[in-house]
Amino acid sequence: MRVSRCVCRGISFATLLAEARAGGLTLDQLVDQTGCGTGCGLCLPYILRVLRTGEPEQDILSAAEFDRLMAECRGLTPTDSRASAP
Ligand code: FES
Repeated sequence: MRVSRCVCRGISFATLLAEARAGGLTLDQLVDQTGCGTGCGLCLPYILRVLRTGEPEQDILSAAEFDRLMAECRGLTPTDSRASAP
């Protein structure tokens, strides 16, 4: 099984990748412009990988990789004390 869309906003990663490339958008800018990642937010680590790899379909991330990428999405490092704050 592969992950290929922001389910909450109904936007495919292929569409997001095309918009990011066309506009030279960062993840934050892509979120602002499309609303992707603003529902449950669970797609954000995948979108970050999509932007980095250029691959619009991603394998399911391990828990550790998901946490690491999610921390990056939030501007935190996994060891940052804020990352584990409630
Ligand atoms: S799947 Fe993207 S915000 Fe929920």
